[in-house]
Amino acid sequence: MLSAFAHDLLQALSTRPHRISPKYFYDAEGSRLFDEICTLPEYYPTRTELAILERSAGEMATLAGPGAEIVEFGAGSLRKVRLLLQAFEAPARYLPIDISGEHLRDAAAVLRREFAGLDVQPLVADYTQQLELPPTGGGGKRIGFFPGSTIGNFTPAEAESFLRRTAQVLRGGALVLGADLVKDPAVLHAAYNDAQGVTAAFNLNLLARANRELGASFVLPQFAHYAFYNPPEQRIEMHLVSRQRQSVALCGEKFTLAEGESLHTENSYKFTVDGLRELALRAGFRPGPVWTDPERLFSVHWLHAPEEKSA
Ligand code: AVJ
Repeated sequence: MLSAFAHDLLQALSTRPHRISPKYFYDAEGSRLFDEICTLPEYYPTRTELAILERSAGEMATLAGPGAEIVEFGAGSLRKVRLLLQAFEAPARYLPIDISGEHLRDAAAVLRREFAGLDVQPLVADYTQQLELPPTGGGGKRIGFFPGSTIGNFTPAEAESFLRRTAQVLRGGALVLGADLVKDPAVLHAAYNDAQGVTAAFNLNLLARANRELGASFVLPQFAHYAFYNPPEQRIEMHLVSRQRQSVALCGEKFTLAEGESLHTENSYKFTVDGLRELALRAGFRPGPVWTDPERLFSVHWLHAPEEKSA
């Protein structure tokens, strides 16, 4: 049986233009590199969102009310959800959803220790698919949490269908959504072309991972990290560009890459505040308060889910 990574990489190399999902960046090494990206001077999103959450967690707590449950889509860094759990009045439950069970178990253990009385129920699942959540425990609201502008990895159509499904799952509650904003392209460019080359290493790790896990034969120095802002699409694109004509072996097959040919590894869409609110509205949410930083680099949105269906 082929792993999903092997299957998708074979597919990517057999079709043109070559492209693969950014979810494959995140093996242990990729997750470590991403954590390093989050501390880079050029990569403003993480620290800006943390500052916004710190300043607005009190207001969010009022909106959530007592005994709320937090459903996090992707169990990323604990630092962000911790700010909500600390601010909320007697949060009843934390339900992180992630495809990596190992990461989830570690996160769950830490939070159980930190928040006595918090019911931590990790769910190993792909949140981009239809989700079945356990019924809410008490009388509190169900609050979704999707930080980091991970929504930017979806195409606009995927983002809308993700939000539409999420609105249903969160009925009676709300979604706290972090979204990176459209801005000076030079600032965006720098965030994905850091001076230390960590983002380049993160991008190239996809090939290193294929070599490690799938026995592929990618020669890393023969690929260039290329990231740029595409204004009409409102997105950063990341590519791995072949520096020369070369062949790669993968799972018993041989692929040839032309000089200058690219493997498209990530889209990271950027949003305007109004554009994001319109997207949320189309998906069935009622947009609520929005918090941004003074430089308007990043936004955090409170999106009211539809009312509970009455019996
Ligand atoms: C995790 C998808 C939000 O798009 O900024 C960081 C990933 N890629 N540097 C982003 C990423 C290159 C990040 N997201």
